Amino acid sequence: MKTLNLVFLGPPGAGKGTQAERISKRLGLKRITPGDILRKEVGKGTRLGKEVEEYMKRGELVPDEMVLEIIGAELKRVGQGFILDGFPRTVAQAKGLDKILESRRWPLHAVIFLDVSDDEIVRRLGARRICLRCGAVYNMITSPPRNNETCDRCGAHLVRRRDDEPETIRKRLQVYTQETAPLIDYYEKKGLLVRIDGARPSDLVTYSVEKALEELSGKIRKGGHRNP
Ligand code: AP5
Repeated sequence: MKTLNLVFLGPPGAGKGTQAERISKRLGLKRITPGDILRKEVGKGTRLGKEVEEYMKRGELVPDEMVLEIIGAELKRVGQGFILDGFPRTVAQAKGLDKILESRRWPLHAVIFLDVSDDEIVRRLGARRICLRCGAVYNMITSPPRNNETCDRCGAHLVRRRDDEPETIRKRLQVYTQETAPLIDYYEKKGLLVRIDGARPSDLVTYSVEKALEELSGKIRKGGHRNP
C-alpha cells in the first residue's frame, strides 16, 4: 500500500487513539498524538507543560499557536506516512495544517471521521483506564485488563485520566461541538472526509477503516484521487 497521510477526527472518546494505534502498526504509519505529547510535558513539569496544564484540566483546547508549533515540528521530524490523531481541532488549526502541507508539497489523503453519539462517549470515558507507564488504554466494560486495575503489558497500576471526570467530559463535548465539529464540513467540502460508524465494537471499526483505506489506495494507484 502506498504511504498515506491521514487525519483521525472525532469527538473525545470516539476511539481515535485505539484505531490510530492499530492502523499505524498495520500500515507502518507514524502516529502523531498532540494529547499524548501535551500530557508528557505536563508530567515532566516543563515550561510548556505548566502552560497547558490548566487548559487540559478544564477540558478546554490548548491555544492554536502552541499546538501548530508542536505539530509542525513533529511533521518535520517524522516525514510523510503519518496519522494525525486528534489534530486539527479548530478551523484555524486545519488552515495551519493546509499551509504546512502545501509548503512541503505533501498531500493529505483522507480524514477518517469516527462518528459516535454523546451518550456512548460518556459511557466509554467514564470506564476508561490508562497506564501511565507504558501508555496502554483499557475500558473497564468493553476491554478490561485481566487483573483488576493492573496493566496487562507492564503490571503498573491503572488510573483514570484527569479529564475523564463527568464534569470535564461534558465540557470537552461542548468544546468539540463548538470548535471541532465544523471540521466535518470543512473536510467534506474538500472531498477528504471518510465517515465511519464508530459506535460498533472496536474490531469492526478497525475493519471498516482498513477497508476504506484499501479502496483509497486503489484510487491513488490508478491516479483517481483528487488532492485539493
Ligand atoms: P486527547 O488526549 O486527544 O483527548 P480526546 O480527543 O478528548 O480524545 P480521547 O483521547 O479522550 O479519546 P479517543 O478518541 O482517543 O478514544 P480512545 O481510543 O482513548 O486530548 C486531551 C486534551 O489535550 C484536550 O482536551 C486538549 O486540552 C488538549 N489537546 C489535544 N489535542 C489538541 C489540539 N489539536 N488542539 C488543542 N488542544 C488539544 O477510547 C476511549 C475509550 O473507549 C477507551 O476506554 C477505549 O478502550 C474505549 N473504546 C474505544 N473504541 C471503542 C469501541 N469501538 N467500542 C467500545 N469501547 C471503545
